[in-house]
Amino acid sequence: MTGLIEAMAETASAVNQELDRLLDRTDAPEGRVLDAMRYSALDGGKRLRPFLVMTTASLFKVSAASALRVAAAIEMIHCYSLIHDDLPAMDNDDLRRGKPTCHRQFDEATAILAGDALLTLAFEVLGEAETHADPAVRCELVVQLAKASGANGMVGGQMIDLLAGNMVMDMNGITRLQQMKTGRIIAFACEAGPILGKAPRQIRTHFQAYAHDLGLAFQIADDLLDTEGDAAVVGKATGKDAAAGKATFVSLLGAERARAQADMLVEQAVSHMDAFGEEADLLRAVARFVVERRS
Ligand code: IPE
Ligand code: IPE
Ligand code: MG
Ligand code: MG
Ligand code: MG
Repeated sequence: MTGLIEAMAETASAVNQELDRLLDRTDAPEGRVLDAMRYSALDGGKRLRPFLVMTTASLFKVSAASALRVAAAIEMIHCYSLIHDDLPAMDNDDLRRGKPTCHRQFDEATAILAGDALLTLAFEVLGEAETHADPAVRCELVVQLAKASGANGMVGGQMIDLLAGNMVMDMNGITRLQQMKTGRIIAFACEAGPILGKAPRQIRTHFQAYAHDLGLAFQIADDLLDTEGDAAVVGKATGKDAAAGKATFVSLLGAERARAQADMLVEQAVSHMDAFGEEADLLRAVARFVVERRS
């Protein structure tokens, strides 16, 4: 795990610098929205999605500069989703990444706008020529990230998540919800490397399969942390899913079976990397990290 921790720390620092560069402060009247964007995007989180981008990109010999831009774009989408997820109209949370949520630090309107602007900037970054010399690659990145983030992806999953308190959900329903809410963006993070490296379709299927299982395991671990985690370590309030009647694997299966399911999914994810050698070791290690993490 030492190699993984160091590699994740290296990505976190690189993506932080990239975000710092892309989110330019200004003294102009609109500066408050940039301050809020910087507040929520810089210096926090595990940077798991950027790590997946950087690690898969390096398997395809993609330049670090190119991969970093995609990593920053995905993290912008992720941070926007967290800002909106925490709003009173959604999960109504006060603590995120160990500090006050964006609407607590600023105000609700500023938090909504900061989320909107992070969402928009992510696509600006992907579309710019510095991201990749080939416009067809940039276009595919834009389309795939849009699909992962929109009504058939993260936003759709968030919609079901909010409605699910009043619905009876079976295993298939919860799997679909989690896949949309969290899985699709993680899947894009795993596919961005092969897209940037113009890998053949059949190579990409290994990463899709890996990401599918990893994404589900990740959300089960998040749900377990909500029931069993320590808020001081997790950096966000715990015990909220059950209180809100959220449909999760933990509410359906109980903690023990949910953990077994997550462990099984991780081993399955790791097995999808069998076609690769030791160059995929970090992807194997991060899959295990996803269920062992405490935050
Ligand atoms: C939390 O994501 C939100 C979910 C999608 C479950 P992370 O656990 O990756 O949050 P950070 O980025 O490390 O704060
Ligand atoms: C939110 O899921 C996932 C997003 C798309 C932001 P959660 O509501 O479970 O995330 P946390 O637990 O607040 O981080
Ligand atoms: Mg939520
Ligand atoms: Mg939440
Ligand atoms: Mg959660």
